[in-house]
Amino acid sequence: MTRVFNFSAGPAALPEAVLAQAAAEMLDWHGTGMSVMEMSHRGSDFMGIHAEALADLRELLAVPANYKILFLQGGGLGENAIVPLNLMRGKSGNQNEADIVITGVWSEKSHLEAQRYGKMNIAASAVDTGFTAVPVVESWKLNQNAAYLHLCTNETINGVEYHFMPELEATHGAAFKDMPIVADMSSHILSRPVDVSKYGLIYGGAQKNIGPAGLTIAIVREDLLLNDASETRAHSMCPSVFNYKTLADTDSMYNTPPTYGIYIAGLVFKWLKAQGGLTVMETHNRAKAALLYGYLDATSFFESRVNKADRSLMNVPFFLKDESLNAAFLQGANEAGLKQLKGHRAIGGMRASIYNAMPLAGVEALVAYMKAFERAH
Ligand SMILES: Cc1ncc(COP(=O)(O)O)c(C=O)c1O
Repeated sequence: MTRVFNFSAGPAALPEAVLAQAAAEMLDWHGTGMSVMEMSHRGSDFMGIHAEALADLRELLAVPANYKILFLQGGGLGENAIVPLNLMRGKSGNQNEADIVITGVWSEKSHLEAQRYGKMNIAASAVDTGFTAVPVVESWKLNQNAAYLHLCTNETINGVEYHFMPELEATHGAAFKDMPIVADMSSHILSRPVDVSKYGLIYGGAQKNIGPAGLTIAIVREDLLLNDASETRAHSMCPSVFNYKTLADTDSMYNTPPTYGIYIAGLVFKWLKAQGGLTVMETHNRAKAALLYGYLDATSFFESRVNKADRSLMNVPFFLKDESLNAAFLQGANEAGLKQLKGHRAIGGMRASIYNAMPLAGVEALVAYMKAFERAH
């Protein structure tokens, strides 16, 4: 068996120990004589797996008691509709507008989808920079009637990450003190600790840093489920399977949840705890990113185009100065067991996604290959 270094942006590499455990338990989970995939989601075995996954995630992210963790389906793009359907009516029940900051391809998609459900105000956009920076918070044009502010805190394609928490009251005044912040954290959730209490809603597809595609995680502050009249805040057309209140009330068991995805996510949560939790993961992730960006900054053969302060620790797009060498670079990388380095078609070039499961050795091998390629050309 040969395992490669897989730099895919998602579905992405998972910890080898997790895959080995899942393989060992595939045919007979804990003496039950069946795979987790074959279990009833309402049976005690799966209910135990589900409850443990929830508890471990709550512990890892220190999720406060007034937040619900939901396991649902639909992926990151599903949330672009599910979020407005649940939250856009706001506290008063008739707000029907929200703000968004556009920092790349994914927040642009969030904007386009959400505006089908109400008015989406672009508070700021980094389009003028070619999506290489987070617009300074002081420049955001926020709207007091917005039910929430939507951010994509790590743009997977553009490689732009928020390394700060917007403090809207400080920058925009008391009227924005309670503006809920909705964050698409699909591609950096669990890469470092975050203060969940600063957000109204955090969501992410699992297939980058958590587990297999098919599971979506949402962490929502309970008061956002209801309006001022204590009725569900969701639009009446919101499908029941995507109604956060319904999911919260049924412990994400309103319909059949993505059971195998939850099981693998649960194994990843245990693996993260065994590594020492998110503070330790952040240290590893910073060391990996520093190695790669350090080389990109030191050479004139490759370049990173993202503003230094906003560079993603998870997704590192980079470009060869001479793009006619792209095919040769990728072919050599493939032969060296460094896979899926081709950049997203939206921006071209290369991209190394270095999520939690990517060991430092993978980034060392990549940088060694890049140096050798530079010498040879
Ligand atoms: C930040 C971000 N948001 C949303 C998505 C879309 O996720 P999905 O394909 O699960 O719908 C992605 C996928 O790569 C992403 O990186």
